[in-house]
Amino acid sequence: MDYQLLLEDIVDTLRPELGKAGQVASYIPALARVPAAQFGIALRTCDGQEAHAGDSTTPFSIQSISKLFALTLGMQAMGEKLWERIGREPSGNPFNSLVQLESEQGIPRNPFINAGAIAVTDRLVSLFDAKAHMLGLLTSLCGEPIAFDDEVAASEAATGFRNIALANFMKSFGRIDNDVGPVLDAYFHHCSIRMSCLQLARAAGYLCRDGQHPYSGEQVLTEKQARRVNALMLTCGTYDAAGEFAFRIGLPCKSGVGGGIVAVVPDKLTLCVWSPALEHSGNSLLGMKALEMFAGRTGVSVF
Ligand code: DON
Repeated sequence: MDYQLLLEDIVDTLRPELGKAGQVASYIPALARVPAAQFGIALRTCDGQEAHAGDSTTPFSIQSISKLFALTLGMQAMGEKLWERIGREPSGNPFNSLVQLESEQGIPRNPFINAGAIAVTDRLVSLFDAKAHMLGLLTSLCGEPIAFDDEVAASEAATGFRNIALANFMKSFGRIDNDVGPVLDAYFHHCSIRMSCLQLARAAGYLCRDGQHPYSGEQVLTEKQARRVNALMLTCGTYDAAGEFAFRIGLPCKSGVGGGIVAVVPDKLTLCVWSPALEHSGNSLLGMKALEMFAGRTGVSVF
């Protein structure tokens, strides 16, 4: 398969649709002013072959894709104990919903909704400098320095009333160990990280390599843990659109409201698409189309 030709063809096919449908995230000015008519796609195979096309080296706000790497840090540091206060079921609700937390005693459904990622971040804050560890992990995984966007982090903090409510609500059930301030500060910074499609396709490489670091070959996660992350991506990685993703694409995916989506083809490759305009659940509209085309053309699917 000539992946470079395929990715270029996907870009050419989608170009006429750029900026025509969907809404760029508008809850903070730094995301609202991102031009909608951008599209990038990149992949890295298990054995290190790379292909990329369109705006594949343009950095964007990774937002909830950071939840994947926060979970990885939590699994590395805590193993099975991480699951004492975090579930593994899809929520079927919007990513920032509060409703299930009340009847479920402050235990979030999964690590990929906001409540779940805030709970994971609380565990990280108890163990080490969660902000530094996140940048360290990503820098190591993609072999290039990765940084926060301080303007985005400050805006997230200034407008993150739901996240502040989620953290306090879980704290009221005794499920958050630290003061909510430092936990939210780390969570908001994680959301603000800027990376390109190519950097994310590289960084997620351990997920198609049974947990092995894309460059050094060290175990980032055990084989079993990597399989579990993929299972969670498939069932929970795209919020209340997880069923639609499984139906149309059939790959483990993790999305963010910056318009990025990371997808894993186990034992083959990792893929990242980016286009800022979103559908109603907060997933990139053209990103979904591109993944559907990629899965259709290559025949890759976990089903
Ligand atoms: O915490 C939030 O609500 C945003 N900073 C991130 C949300 C996000 O990316 C959810 N994704 N689709």
